[in-house]
Amino acid sequence: MSDPRSTSSYRSLRFLAPADLAGHLTQYPTHVQDWVARNGFTAERGAVLAIPDTPECVRGEVWVGLGTRALDLALSLGLPDRLPPGTYTCRDALEPSSATTLALGFAIGGYRFGRYKALAAPMASLELPSGVDGEGVHRMARADGLARDLINTPAQDLGPAALADAVCELARRHGGTAEVIVGDALIAQGFPAVHAVGRSGAEAPRVAIYRGGATDGPLVALVGKGVCFDTGGLDLKPSSGMALMKKDMGGAAVAIAIAELILSAHLPVRLLVVVPAVENGVGPLAYRPGDVLATRTGATVEVTNTDAEGRIVLADTLAYAAESAPEVLIDLATLTGAARVALGPELPAVYGNDPAWVHALLESGTAVTDPLWSMPLWEGYEDELASRVADLQNASSSGFAGSITAALFLSRFVPREQPWLHLDLYAWNPKERPGKPVGAWAHGVRAVFELLQRRYGG
Ligand code: BES
Ligand code: ZN
Ligand code: ZN
Repeated sequence: MSDPRSTSSYRSLRFLAPADLAGHLTQYPTHVQDWVARNGFTAERGAVLAIPDTPECVRGEVWVGLGTRALDLALSLGLPDRLPPGTYTCRDALEPSSATTLALGFAIGGYRFGRYKALAAPMASLELPSGVDGEGVHRMARADGLARDLINTPAQDLGPAALADAVCELARRHGGTAEVIVGDALIAQGFPAVHAVGRSGAEAPRVAIYRGGATDGPLVALVGKGVCFDTGGLDLKPSSGMALMKKDMGGAAVAIAIAELILSAHLPVRLLVVVPAVENGVGPLAYRPGDVLATRTGATVEVTNTDAEGRIVLADTLAYAAESAPEVLIDLATLTGAARVALGPELPAVYGNDPAWVHALLESGTAVTDPLWSMPLWEGYEDELASRVADLQNASSSGFAGSITAALFLSRFVPREQPWLHLDLYAWNPKERPGKPVGAWAHGVRAVFELLQRRYGG
């Protein structure tokens, strides 16, 4: 009986802080007071208690403990997991921002990846509280789910062709134009480095380009690392390092999700999305350590490690996007293990050549509980990229500051005057928590969209 999941007849949510519990209880009959005591409910954060109805008192309430903090996204995300299945209304009069957070938490916290397995019983859902922009919440949940579905889908079903198709899907849904440059055409059209990395893959490498959005207005460019599987190449990863590498297109997935939000919310910007979609494979066609690659800008790159492939495919595509001189150029990439060593799985590292844009992104991330952390483009480490035989090498031999040197590498392909942000993200949740199943996580989607909405929205 004390398991709140054992029934689905409870419907209305009440949020309680420990300090308010005693006062609150005085409004209830003694059997409820006893029930609360017997179940040890003290309104600690995340605790859930279904209150039993009696013939004299039918309220259909479920109480949720707030602990010492306000109702926030982290708590809201966990509710679909913690509550008994059913449809809920919220009894408390919430501020519009809290109501929106609650609705968004339910929507995102209810995500499950069901492509290959029947999902368990339906979870709890929320009737939209008044004052909430339901369309906005729905758009965000859809975009978040889109990114997570792409990331969760294994490379067997999400190779370069399928990933490029997800970019084309933007044009089918929202108008605009999509173009995919495939295989040897990459060489003729100025993407030689993408071709070199991806030519060993089972599917031909490609670059997907979407242009759409408003007919005029500022141009926003998004570039996402789309390595559908990263074996490491000839510098093969050990099995432990390869296990999760279906998610190495997480940057592309996040870029596509942000694009989906921009387009569905009709943000008054022109949009350019560029995704290099490749597999970093092993085989006779694989690029090799020691190879010297041509890139779009003419800079040559000595391959010192075939596992540092993300920066190579981003070199061509960043240079391409910068040719359109967007007002801001944002790249998103599962670029380095070093960023995870420094900041762990939850905090994408942010780099940029324009402090105002970096600051605005960090603020936006904090505001929407999609946190990011600023890292330096430290010029003192530039010499780590020096090569004896080419303009630069793709991986430094010292191994120091791996996330910074990767970002410095990218910066060589972005003109100095081009405002640019780079997010080195994990795209994965490694720890099972209520509302956060182990699997894809769309780091940066809400932060970047908030940034763009603040800058360009009404
Ligand atoms: N896709 C990886 C980075 C990565 C690894 C992200 C693990 C998240 C979790 C990237 O292509 C890579 O392998 N980078 C190497 C670079 C090194 C060889 C200079 C890395 O970080 O070890
Ligand atoms: Zn790699
Ligand atoms: Zn990679």
